[in-house]
Amino acid sequence: MCGIVGYIGKQKAVSILLEGLKRLEYRGYDSAGLAIQQDGKLCISRKTGRVEQLVKETAKLHYTGTAGISHTRWATHGGVTEANAHPHLSSDGKLVLVHNGVIENFAAIKHFLQGKDYTFRSETDTEVLCNLIAYHYAKEPESNAQSRFLESVRKTLLHIEGTYGIAVMCVDRPNEIVAARKGSPLLLGVGDGEYLLASDASALISHTRNVVYLKDGELVHVTPETFAITTLDQADVPPVVDRITWSIADAELNGFAHFMEKEIFEQPAALENAMRGRFSADGSTANFGGLNLAATDFRQIDRFVFCSCGTAWHACLVAEHLIERFARVPVEVDYASEFRYRNAPLDRDALFFFISQSGETIDTLAAMREAKRKGYKVMAICNVVGSSIAREADGGIYQHAGPEIGVASTKAFTSQLLISALFALYVARLRDMSFSDGVNYVQGLKAAPELVRKTLEQAPHIKEIAQRYAQYHDCLFLGRLSLFPIALEGALKLKEISYIHAEGYPAAEMKHGPIALVNEQCPSVFFVPKGELFNKIVSSMQEIKARKGKIIAIVTEGCELPDGLADEVIPIPDCHEAILPIIATVPVQLLSYYIAVARHCDVDKPRNLAKSVTVE
Ligand code: G6P
Repeated sequence: MCGIVGYIGKQKAVSILLEGLKRLEYRGYDSAGLAIQQDGKLCISRKTGRVEQLVKETAKLHYTGTAGISHTRWATHGGVTEANAHPHLSSDGKLVLVHNGVIENFAAIKHFLQGKDYTFRSETDTEVLCNLIAYHYAKEPESNAQSRFLESVRKTLLHIEGTYGIAVMCVDRPNEIVAARKGSPLLLGVGDGEYLLASDASALISHTRNVVYLKDGELVHVTPETFAITTLDQADVPPVVDRITWSIADAELNGFAHFMEKEIFEQPAALENAMRGRFSADGSTANFGGLNLAATDFRQIDRFVFCSCGTAWHACLVAEHLIERFARVPVEVDYASEFRYRNAPLDRDALFFFISQSGETIDTLAAMREAKRKGYKVMAICNVVGSSIAREADGGIYQHAGPEIGVASTKAFTSQLLISALFALYVARLRDMSFSDGVNYVQGLKAAPELVRKTLEQAPHIKEIAQRYAQYHDCLFLGRLSLFPIALEGALKLKEISYIHAEGYPAAEMKHGPIALVNEQCPSVFFVPKGELFNKIVSSMQEIKARKGKIIAIVTEGCELPDGLADEVIPIPDCHEAILPIIATVPVQLLSYYIAVARHCDVDKPRNLAKSVTVE
């Protein structure tokens, strides 16, 4: 949700900023802009639309400056206009700023500044922040040239309520950038005679793999030669330089048409990474290095509470099913945004899990802080190493799925399902699951990458089906038990990338409402795995067929459906129950993807969405 890139060093900043912005475009793509320090001036370019528009604009301008800041926007305050695009310049022309987050007390500050003759050209909260820095800068004694800029940012931030990742430049200090964060991610890339700032590592990895993850309440003062981190109350922070383990190739298309397609096909590898080193030596249970909780403590838990947003919330629903089914421990699932405010009564010995690909979703982070405040231990399942949620949790499990760039989550989701299955096994083996059932379960999990690979072979067949269904306006996704969350996920995938109205329901629940939608124009995607509910699901399909609804059936290989019942059949391999949600997800990802492509939708950057939602 808004991406920031900054550069200071010996090279021309413009191309580095633009390359970084392109990599962060998944965070927002309403407008893009940059500011370069050049010839004693702050040169600013801004364009509505994609970064490509900014590339065209700046190509004409031949910027040569070696320090700059830039931004790709997901609009919050103020419409999608050039005036609202970042960077924002203070009304005295001294300070320029890019911002990711929301300044909640911006109205009061704006009122105060208007009383001091500051003027505003945009509707944004960011411009208010920039002018408040200018106000403090003007008040700082000029004799204090060395630290005047840094201190004016620090003083400003003490008055700010809300969230921010910011990078600021001052016309009087051409060799400095000041950046800070609270609630929005920001990393410093430490290069050789150069430094980068970015909202995530993909924007700087082609220049350096050495990064410092800034923490909330920290500011960094960067020059071409060095950097220093301090807190809002001026304490020095010794930097911890981490090394990024993935490479630039992981963040490139590598021949795929879209990141979503690439990430769907990366799932076998992502699943292998999620499992690596996580099985016990006797092959009957799972091991986790980072939970920081002893087995005896897990035995005391009365209830697990899982909270998340979006696709990750669907992963929570699968975790609920698997833990309750195999470990027989009650699980509650909540939307993070609801949990935070609804003040739910909680069991004394509950343990919280927060699932988040990015580790930065503000609703999930806020819910986690709320659970912590109430004295509960909180665990995180995150993909992005060093992210806020991962850092603030008491323990957790990293997904190791590699960077996920497509806005619609795919490989991160199935990796979350695999980790949920591993965790269910771990708890089950601490309770009543036998050694041999554990061994069988482990074998089932180990088969997941190969079975996903096999399911991916259906891609050409699914692409053909997609051509036939691309022009419908509505679609139902129907599944039962662990595949009900996958019905929700299938519906979400389809609506977010192809803009087709879709709903996910438990298959039998369909007759209590959604069936009213069914006609020749509203197809239904049914999950029909082998097992005790097979015939019940077939009955639900008959009810749809009787109303002329078309049916796409995702069916376990070898299971026979009544003749003519399904219009389309997508076979999936037979598998252990614990990985069925993973296998069943693949066809609906591919179906949504190919339908969106057939509708000429911008698959990786669906309208109005952003990958990492860092505003409430
Ligand atoms: C956004 C994205 C979704 C994602 C959700 C939660 O809405 O568009 O794809 O599932 O945020 O993100 P997280 O990073 O917390 O998993």
